[in-house]
Amino acid sequence: MMAFFYLAYLFTSVTLYNGGTYPISAVKSIIVDRKYANEVDESGETLIPPRLHEFADTFAADLRDIWHLNVSVSVAEDRPPHSIYLTISEKTSFWYASGEVSSEGYAFEVTTSGITIHGASPLEGELQLGKSVDFPGWKIRGMMLDAARHYYPPKFIVELCSYMSFFKQNTLQLHLSDNLYNAGIYSREQSLSLYARFRLWSDAPEVEGLNKFKNESYTRAQFKAIQSHCVARGVTIIPEIEAPGHALPIVQWKPDLGLSSDLSLLNISHPDTIPTIKTIWNTFFDWFDSKTVHIGADEYTGEVSEYNRFVNEMAKFIRNNGSKSVRIWGTFPPKPDYDNITKDVSIQHWEFFEDNPLFDYIKNNYSVVNSDDTFYVVNKWSGSYPPKVNIAKSFHGNPATGGQWQPYIFDTNNETNNPERSNKYILGAIAPLWNDFGPNATVYSETYYAWREGIPVLADKQWGGDLSQEEFLTVFPTLRALAPAQNLERSIVSKSSTILRYDSKSSTQGYVSDMSRGKRVSDFSGNDYDASTNCARTSNNTLLVTPDCSLKTPLSSKGRNYTLTLKLYIESIEKQDATIISGADSTLMLTPNIALFASGNYYRLNSTLPLKTWVELSIVGRGEQTFASVRETSLEDSFPSASAVVGAEEEFRAVLGINGAYFVWAPIAIEAPIAELGGEDAGWTGEFAGLLLSSET
Ligand SMILES: *[C@@H]1O[C@H](CO)[C@@H](O)[C@H](O)[C@H]1NC(C)=O
Ligand SMILES: *[C@@H]1O[C@H](CO)[C@@H](O)[C@H](O)[C@H]1NC(C)=O
Ligand SMILES: *[C@@H]1O[C@H](CO)[C@@H](O)[C@H](O)[C@H]1NC(C)=O
Ligand SMILES: *[C@@H]1O[C@H](CO)[C@@H](O)[C@H](O)[C@H]1NC(C)=O
Ligand SMILES: *[C@@H]1O[C@H](CO)[C@@H](O)[C@H](O)[C@H]1NC(C)=O
Ligand SMILES: *[C@@H]1O[C@H](CO)[C@@H](O)[C@H](O)[C@H]1NC(C)=O
Ligand SMILES: *[C@@H]1O[C@H](CO)[C@@H](O)[C@H](O)[C@H]1NC(C)=O
Ligand SMILES: *[C@@H]1O[C@H](CO)[C@@H](O)[C@H](O)[C@H]1NC(C)=O
Ligand SMILES: *[C@@H]1O[C@H](CO)[C@@H](O)[C@H](O)[C@H]1NC(C)=O
Ligand SMILES: *[C@@H]1O[C@H](CO)[C@@H](O)[C@H](O)[C@H]1NC(C)=O
Ligand SMILES: *[C@@H]1O[C@H](CO)[C@@H](O)[C@H](O)[C@H]1NC(C)=O
Repeated sequence: MMAFFYLAYLFTSVTLYNGGTYPISAVKSIIVDRKYANEVDESGETLIPPRLHEFADTFAADLRDIWHLNVSVSVAEDRPPHSIYLTISEKTSFWYASGEVSSEGYAFEVTTSGITIHGASPLEGELQLGKSVDFPGWKIRGMMLDAARHYYPPKFIVELCSYMSFFKQNTLQLHLSDNLYNAGIYSREQSLSLYARFRLWSDAPEVEGLNKFKNESYTRAQFKAIQSHCVARGVTIIPEIEAPGHALPIVQWKPDLGLSSDLSLLNISHPDTIPTIKTIWNTFFDWFDSKTVHIGADEYTGEVSEYNRFVNEMAKFIRNNGSKSVRIWGTFPPKPDYDNITKDVSIQHWEFFEDNPLFDYIKNNYSVVNSDDTFYVVNKWSGSYPPKVNIAKSFHGNPATGGQWQPYIFDTNNETNNPERSNKYILGAIAPLWNDFGPNATVYSETYYAWREGIPVLADKQWGGDLSQEEFLTVFPTLRALAPAQNLERSIVSKSSTILRYDSKSSTQGYVSDMSRGKRVSDFSGNDYDASTNCARTSNNTLLVTPDCSLKTPLSSKGRNYTLTLKLYIESIEKQDATIISGADSTLMLTPNIALFASGNYYRLNSTLPLKTWVELSIVGRGEQTFASVRETSLEDSFPSASAVVGAEEEFRAVLGINGAYFVWAPIAIEAPIAELGGEDAGWTGEFAGLLLSSET
């Protein structure tokens, strides 16, 4: 069974059973079966399931987005011709691999007069289209994002959900508290100042001081919005607050609660420890719209008996006071001489050195999520794990056959460690991405690139599909380009490789007739991305950029690959961090070194820009790297200039390190800033004579 459906079969036509085709452009409306318009699927992990009618609206928006189809949505008993008819099957005809009934299946029928989708629940109305019948093998299918050691803006998470949902994943676990590795060599002071974050921001007095970084946190309103946007596309957020290990954010708040041997571990015996964690959960229960929450419980090296007591007390508390189920990472499997953890806690297995999911858990009737580190990613660099999902392993990860991996395969080398495919204790699979090197190792979008191929490949296997590597490579480019409601690659529609071109030399028609205050600056790329400006025009047809004016383009950000060239004359720099040009994902600055500010961090070159001379500054995004080069030019010279680069092309780089303990130089892929040149408080005065944005490097 192939899991890639969605709109894939709707490219421009649908092949009919009789060999004919049905053009998707013929679709005029989406009709929601009146009988089920308000139906919701209560069986998933979310507490806020959308109604079938709401899925239809999302679907219509996607058809507009991708196919430019103007499709109306209405509720009716019958279907008019050329409609997509969304309804729900009365009979249960979809089952998970365990034999349990699934609400996520759907049947898909195409005739010469339209398309009918029979879902088992409203979940299916919107996302999963296909031919004939399709249903998933497992309930939990998704990814885990370490949003603790790296902040991600809500919009990025929502776009990521759109991408995941397109490939039929339904779970995004958000790891919301953690710290960088608390090496044994650190002093108490170093540990207490090590990068550690708790990402939820509450004004409740009970947690005052737990989070000191409001600009890198989620407020209740933001967290609610993330959850509802994601669930609109069938993706449930599972929040994780980590304790009693990886708990430095909590210890930095209440230092007495740390174990003296390692402050990132909680001293569970301390009388305030469990009450403190209960207080935290009590504060956030009603923020979370999922039936299950994750309490971490990973990599604790304190006492096992205390660990088990902690997990059991928390599980009971969360069930009683939050009405939610608990998940933990596999850490201390049950042993004859333990008071074991309770069986109503589900276990997220990640490594065989921690546990054996089959013999320790499944055979003892614990439910398990497969997060085996076969598919771990550590962002950018690690001594242990790859920077991208090992997709090859997913095509050849079954030790019994050499074939496809699926969620029931915990061990890709040893068949004996894997349960039967139909074992009911296998909940599904989640593949994590960890930010071991913290916030400055990567910009937000590099997380997307680490998962770009991994999400579709794992989604197929998690669903129960068996797409081959060859098939994947064939369909992926087309499918990726169709994923709706996101532009994670920051691509821009353009008639040619020249996306944007403002050039004071091209002719005076570049400006409106107002000679003293230019208002519109024409784009000569052919794309009509004209800019507006309130900067004055000089007699040489350049713009006089002063701290009270700017040039605004209708664009914002361009992802890899690109060359952004600016022709500038910097008269003076008036502040420490002068802003040349800014965009949604980055800002080009003179600090005074040439620098890009992105995802909250500065990436500086050693070189500066010469003052009081015409220069061309080029920023180049080439694959995973970003470069800058400077050319000396003159106002008369052509744009772009043919003169040689001054010095050499320099690379922006990340320095990966933890408190000076480890250092690795690595590339960084920063988007081009293209929204506003100069602007309020930009901190420089000079002239602007041209901007060229190209998708070539
Ligand atoms: C879409 O169709 C409706 C009528 O079905 C019409 O009112 C509306 O203007 C159309 N929108 C666009 C963008 O064509
Ligand atoms: C843990 O807390 C208990 C109670 O406050 C204290 O007696 C003990 O020394 C602490 N243990 C460590 C290792 O910090
Ligand atoms: C848990 O809920 C019970 C009943 O609502 C309440 O009495 C108790 O105070 C709560 N516990 C905490 C720690 O909030
Ligand atoms: C803990 O689990 C192990 C393995 O299943 C079992 O042998 C042992 O009896 C359990 N301990 C208790 C206290 O139930
Ligand atoms: C697991 O559950 C089954 C019934 O579902 C029971 O027969 C079996 O004894 C249980 N095994 C353990 C180790 O608790
Ligand atoms: C395979 O797994 C089984 C069960 O855990 C174990 O007994 C056996 O030693 C493993 N074989 C190898 C080659 O590691
Ligand atoms: C305009 O150009 C002329 C000759 O190229 C130059 O001398 C003059 O300084 C320029 N004026 C401005 C405002 O740049
Ligand atoms: C949040 O604020 C701090 C302190 O001003 C700053 O260093 C950091 O870059 C900001 N974070 C982001 C994501 O902008
Ligand atoms: C800047 O100069 C330092 C010292 O010479 C060098 O180690 C570093 O690599 C340079 N940085 C960049 C981004 O080229
Ligand atoms: C971007 O440049 C890199 C390095 O030259 C190249 O490997 C890659 O194919 C290019 N990507 C696109 C989308 O052109
Ligand atoms: C990133 O942060 C580490 C400290 O964790 C520091 O050593 C390193 O220089 C920083 N890198 C950059 C590019 O600022």
